[in-house]
Amino acid sequence: MSREAASRVAEDLARLLPLLDARLTLAFQGGEATRLGEAMRYSLEAGGKRVRPVLCLLAAEAVGGSPEEALPGALALEYIHTYSLIHDDLPAMDDDDLRRGRPTNHKVFGEGHAILAGDGLLTEAFRVLADGPGDPARRLEALALLATAAGWRGMVGGQSLDLLGEALDTYDLAHLQLIHRLKTGALLRASLEIGAVLGGASPADRQALRAAGEALGLAFQIQDDILDATATEADLGKRAGKDAGRGKITYPSLLGLDGARKALEEATETALCHLASLPNRTSLEAWARYLAQRGK
Ligand code: IPE
Ligand code: IPE
Ligand code: MG
Ligand code: MG
Ligand code: MG
Repeated sequence: MSREAASRVAEDLARLLPLLDARLTLAFQGGEATRLGEAMRYSLEAGGKRVRPVLCLLAAEAVGGSPEEALPGALALEYIHTYSLIHDDLPAMDDDDLRRGRPTNHKVFGEGHAILAGDGLLTEAFRVLADGPGDPARRLEALALLATAAGWRGMVGGQSLDLLGEALDTYDLAHLQLIHRLKTGALLRASLEIGAVLGGASPADRQALRAAGEALGLAFQIQDDILDATATEADLGKRAGKDAGRGKITYPSLLGLDGARKALEEATETALCHLASLPNRTSLEAWARYLAQRGK
């Protein structure tokens, strides 16, 4: 990644993270179920790269909108993503004990509360987007996109195929791509498309962002697979080397590390091609390059 792209990513984070952080846990303060509130805040406050909300805000800017208009969408995306991680780590799923540099939610709050924390985050995602502010017609469209991406034809469906895949002896590239497009790609693509919709994109710009998001989503999970096989627990803030042990369907296991890296490059180039037609594309281009080279 060029130094220019790296400083662009750093500038975007410095500009946009305070906007997100000011609102992220607000909805989970007070209330009657204080232990549950604590469990939800625990996973949100553990950090995380905030890739989906930042991409959502940048997509709105890329089509001439403002980050403020896209903020409800950005918050909703991070709530859904955080819920998906809490449930992904449960003993009945990937059975992990470290996430975002901390013990996983169920290790601290118990399985019952980890399930409920996921449920609470999932539900709040739809409330925050429904409540606004911003244009109601745009928010309604964004709600439908979020539901499709998060639900059984998106992330949840991908998690199902991922679990079933542990028992498969053989699989091909098409099946691997399907799992990755659903379990991770759907929400990444929705991040760009929801940002586009909330930012008031033209149909052509929206389509370009949707297509770029599709490729970026695939690239993101390929890099997640590569990092699982090559990085350390200290780098990642989550357990490393766990996919091979569980018999997960991954790019490195099918194509080898070099093949996986080549597929990552191709998906990133595809994303960059789709971004090329956008008016304000510099940040998203820098992020596409950064995501392919990230070390965690
Ligand atoms: C990890 O996502 C799980 C996948 C969908 C690949 P991230 O790498 O975005 O996790 P955080 O949000 O930074 O913790
Ligand atoms: C997670 O994929 C995808 C979702 C949570 C939807 P992984 O199981 O590979 O994610 P990590 O590696 O545990 O973060
Ligand atoms: Mg998983
Ligand atoms: Mg996992
Ligand atoms: Mg992984």
